[in-house]
Amino acid sequence: MKRRRTFAIISHPDAGKSTMTEALALHARMISEAGAIHGKAGRKSTVSDWMEMEKARGISVSSTALQFNYSSEHSDSDVPNVINLVDTPGHADFSEDTYRVLTAVDAAVMLIDAAKGLEPQTLKLFQVCRHRGIPVITVINKWDRPGQTPLELIDEIAERIGLTPTPLYFPVGIAGDFRGLLDRRTGQYIRFTRTAGGAKVAPEEIMEADAAATREGDEWTTALEESELLTEMGQDHEQEMFLAGQTSPMIFASAMLNFGVRQLLETLVELAPPPQGRADVDGDVREVTDPFSAVVFKVQAGMDQSHRDRLAYMRIVSGEFERGMVVTHAQTGKPFATKYAQAVFGRDRSTVDLAYPGDVVGLVNAMALAPGDTLYIEPRVQYPPIPSFAPEHFSALRVNTADKYKQFRKAMDQLDSEGVVQVLRNDLRGDASPVLAAVGPMQFEVVTARMKSEFNVATTIEPLGYSLARRTDAESAVELGRQRGVEVFTRTDGALLALFSDKWRLQYVEKEHPNLTLEPLVATA
Ligand code: G4P
Repeated sequence: MKRRRTFAIISHPDAGKSTMTEALALHARMISEAGAIHGKAGRKSTVSDWMEMEKARGISVSSTALQFNYSSEHSDSDVPNVINLVDTPGHADFSEDTYRVLTAVDAAVMLIDAAKGLEPQTLKLFQVCRHRGIPVITVINKWDRPGQTPLELIDEIAERIGLTPTPLYFPVGIAGDFRGLLDRRTGQYIRFTRTAGGAKVAPEEIMEADAAATREGDEWTTALEESELLTEMGQDHEQEMFLAGQTSPMIFASAMLNFGVRQLLETLVELAPPPQGRADVDGDVREVTDPFSAVVFKVQAGMDQSHRDRLAYMRIVSGEFERGMVVTHAQTGKPFATKYAQAVFGRDRSTVDLAYPGDVVGLVNAMALAPGDTLYIEPRVQYPPIPSFAPEHFSALRVNTADKYKQFRKAMDQLDSEGVVQVLRNDLRGDASPVLAAVGPMQFEVVTARMKSEFNVATTIEPLGYSLARRTDAESAVELGRQRGVEVFTRTDGALLALFSDKWRLQYVEKEHPNLTLEPLVATA
């Protein structure tokens, strides 16, 4: 179990997540593929075509996991490491699930475009990592193209998010002239050679400093000087600081040319934490060696029209998982048979027979399971629920014909409990027109499509002019209700949320009424 690494890549669209995923898989030996490489035109297409909209847009609604073996050159054992890369859906399918994936990993790789630096989606995902205490490895990608200088990028990360980069490998050659990497810990030079289109693992030549200086001249000297500057500033890797989320080992790479990819794998194996025990709702820790337990972090429904399929993805926390095992669903106390456990989702499903802590397994026909639920083998355990994340999109949902109201209620309850969207209600709008809140707008389409296909209820969705939510209390709600551009709702879990049209409206209200309770909604766990 110490040999497993489970991580996700957090990035902004176009930073190179798909290219990096493919490059990692190329360097490692793939065990099984769960469709993490999303289907862009001409690329290997993914998984599921479970909804027409997914096909039309060529994006994957699923979050899936890729598993591969990697034999580290520093390893003293013949047994390879097992790497689980859990996909964080991005682009238009950015949603609650993107955040929830982060509850299933032990580390994150923050992939940054060398020219663009920190971008909004990366920042949001980073905040979730920070709240959850997930250590972050930083990769500056696209170093083969013109971009910022290493020190500019390091400063930007340190200043904007308070995370101190501690480069492990420093680039030799400016962005756009990527020659190789200075291994800051050994002082050696890793010189890369391009292969046609980066299709193969790039050959590496390891050189000592003197030879590197002769070979690269000023480029080598500059790398060395800047690296020494970082050492003087205390920006060398320290494992405890990394695990505490204060520093981030950094690598410069080109996913396209396959430069720096092996270094990333080595870093994951060497520094990223292996699966660890997890605290349950009472704060007691279930160790990885204890009997089986797992947390469901995502549920995907309606993928297969003919089967009313429902896949729940669980991350194994403790013990060994064997297909066919009957486990208990902590939330209902009911048994759950795992006859159809799968590693591969969508078109190419394959069964999983054995899995260990850190692995992700899909369970078919998981009708009762919702994100955050626990499965276990005695003794009983229940893990804390997955927190709800700050929604940024709000729409009113209406049932088209009154005679379908009963089914509409039922469907709404179901989708709410699955965590597809957050459901908000207030007296003014009434029960027939709840407001849906989501992290990504595509969730609304998921709701209307599932209303139709699974419950046969036609609905209309109407976007609302709100863009942010704050948690409030009953006392403040009265005053907030009187404000223009503000509306107060009760979420299903009882939380009172005030929606604001924009941040200026919020700032105005905060200024005018400094005593009102208005707390940001962040992942709190
Ligand atoms: P994403 O999944 O994060 O959205 O990014 P993706 O890998 O699709 O990469 C976005 C674009 O950036 C792609 O180009 C890809 O080839 C390019 N790219 C990724 N990594 C590197 C890199 O290290 N160096 C350079 N120079 N480019 C990189 P595209 O033209 O949009 O798509 P495609 O036609 O190459 O598929």
